[in-house]
Amino acid sequence: MRAAGEPIIDLTLSNPTRAGFDYPADLLAPLADPHALMYDPRPFGSIDARRAVARDYERRGLDISPDRLVLTASTSDAYSLLFKLLADPGDEILVPRPSYPLFDHLTQLDAVGVRPYDLDYHGAWTIDFATVERALSDRTRAILIVSPNNPTGSFVTADELDRLATLCASRNAGDAIALIADEVFADYELEPGAARAAGRVSSRRDVLSFALGGLSKSVGLPQVKLGWIAAAGPDTIVDAALARLELICDTYLSVSTPAQVAAARLLERGAAVRTQIAGRVGTNYRQLASLSAASSCTCRRAEGGWYGVLQVPSLEPEEDLVVRLLIKDGVLTHPGYFFDFHHESFLVVSLLTPEAAFADGVRRILRHFDCNASDAASGVAPQEAKE
Ligand SMILES: Cc1ncc(COP(=O)(O)O)c(C=O)c1O
Repeated sequence: MRAAGEPIIDLTLSNPTRAGFDYPADLLAPLADPHALMYDPRPFGSIDARRAVARDYERRGLDISPDRLVLTASTSDAYSLLFKLLADPGDEILVPRPSYPLFDHLTQLDAVGVRPYDLDYHGAWTIDFATVERALSDRTRAILIVSPNNPTGSFVTADELDRLATLCASRNAGDAIALIADEVFADYELEPGAARAAGRVSSRRDVLSFALGGLSKSVGLPQVKLGWIAAAGPDTIVDAALARLELICDTYLSVSTPAQVAAARLLERGAAVRTQIAGRVGTNYRQLASLSAASSCTCRRAEGGWYGVLQVPSLEPEEDLVVRLLIKDGVLTHPGYFFDFHHESFLVVSLLTPEAAFADGVRRILRHFDCNASDAASGVAPQEAKE
């Protein structure tokens, strides 16, 4: 359809740099700072850049020492470093389901096995602890959480985190399990107060924990390639883990010097982009909820993140539905099975889409299921919405 020049409303757009935000033209000027002409590699990154990341955590009310911060080229890079640190080939990592599809590749590329545990929906998403316990084995080395999760938008609660930490801490030292929390979307609340109410691993003292973040989501700059790991837990265990992680990081030295030199200014200036993204994902989520309210489709409650989940009538396989929506209605969505939803039918839509196109795309989806109530509610005639 693209090759034929047919218009498509792309509700899968997840690249913030292509979503029509107003990036200041000189936003990346700090990357040209002449200080970056000097190469002075440090395994965990320069102390100035790590201090800048620590200051950024203060903005979220979290007190993290720069000594416990490790810079990475991206969150994917951070995962790979941590899998090397925590697991031998054939060891296992527990990952949430539904969640981010990249975990299969990220684990396989480090020869690590992956075992899912379930998130269940009862008006809000919660961890099904019976599935966590079933997934644990002698070879489990880490439990991964994504908070807020992609695509469910659920934050891990403080209670859930305590229960996970108890499971990890119940193991003997030789079989220890760490917590890895992907918090890349933590700046984007869809429910006010959700982020502050969530459980945060960076304040844990009882179990070796790693929180992951990065510029790619927090200031909408994935191309700069700067992420970080914040380590927490019992001091002696954290110190031993960081000593080993230092060797791994020193082997790759994957973070560019210009990105480190620019880190403080990018974090500060990028706030302007973050504010725009936060405004848009909030508006689109509210649109999704209100447009679908009077339809046979249900918007699943989300507390944060960049995605919306629509449960839709299960009239045909998701794959066929998504193709039909594209060909017949001109809307591109992701099927739930990409994210391992337990059953069909779900559509995942990106809340990053510009507002007018988002509302148009959602109306087309609802109309596909003959949910004309949404158009009546918004006062837009179906044909106008289509145009
Ligand atoms: C949950 C989650 N973690 C990490 C990433 C990627 O982050 P990075 O660009 O820092 O590798 C994404 C990208 O969509 C994501 O959804």
